[in-house]
Amino acid sequence: MKRIRIAVFPVAGLGTRFLPATKAMPKEMLPVVDKPLIQYAVEEAVAAGFTELVFVTGRNKRAIEDHFDRVPELELDLEAKNKVALLDSVRNVLPSHVNCVYTRQPTALGLGHAVLCAAPIVGDEPFAVLLADDMIDAPAPVIGEMAKVAREFGGSVLALQKIPPSSTRQYGIVSGSPLARGVLKLNGMVEKPDPADAPSDMAVVGRYILDPRIFDCLRRTQPGVGGEIQLTDAIAALLRGNAVFGYEYEGTRYDCGSKAGFYQATMEIGRKYHGLGERNA
Ligand code: G1P
Repeated sequence: MKRIRIAVFPVAGLGTRFLPATKAMPKEMLPVVDKPLIQYAVEEAVAAGFTELVFVTGRNKRAIEDHFDRVPELELDLEAKNKVALLDSVRNVLPSHVNCVYTRQPTALGLGHAVLCAAPIVGDEPFAVLLADDMIDAPAPVIGEMAKVAREFGGSVLALQKIPPSSTRQYGIVSGSPLARGVLKLNGMVEKPDPADAPSDMAVVGRYILDPRIFDCLRRTQPGVGGEIQLTDAIAALLRGNAVFGYEYEGTRYDCGSKAGFYQATMEIGRKYHGLGERNA
């Protein structure tokens, strides 16, 4: 299998859980300490060797495009004041070999529909999907580890995390059997089931390596949970006839789509990487 180059970032969500903070600002621009959520996800993809970044945006998301663009007047100002570290942090948000493409999801019809909006750009090659809400602090970029699994076994790969059985309503839940260390061969997937109907306690977190055949499955997918076109339902269809693996990643995942998870990320990342804490706050 050739190297996987393309990473898709669905960033069109409305972010209602963080209103009023997200009234005029994309939720992906909420900062954990000093970087917006989307930058953590982008840095993970870039560190894993992805070079083509596709952002599926929507209304009110201009700040994301601006964030990954250059700002010559700010750079000149920082240069004149010899603020080298700050200059570096704004100039090198992205290395020069990485390309960004922006496309829009005209209506918020669900994650599956957002991924389908990237189809004309992705074409016929395997690609990654990263949800910026799921921030993962890991020894090695999780999406890169997943690309290795895809190369070794061939097929699609979903990041898995064991969850308390009472939380199945928040996730896509998989069923499968162990194949290798940390790798499962999947045979089913359901979006946000009741605990009583959940096939396991293994949940998908927002990292996917997908075979391009997912696009045909998405085109055939009818609205599911919440009236939305669910990526999970398309993956369940892909599973019939195509190999899909689960990968139990190493690392700490923060659910930054919730206030509690966002708060925890801020505290722990602040403490671990920025020397922030009770004593020196
Ligand atoms: C989405 C997916 C779900 C997955 C989750 C991971 O749900 O639909 O299958 O488990 O991301 O964060 P959302 O959190 O957008 O409701």
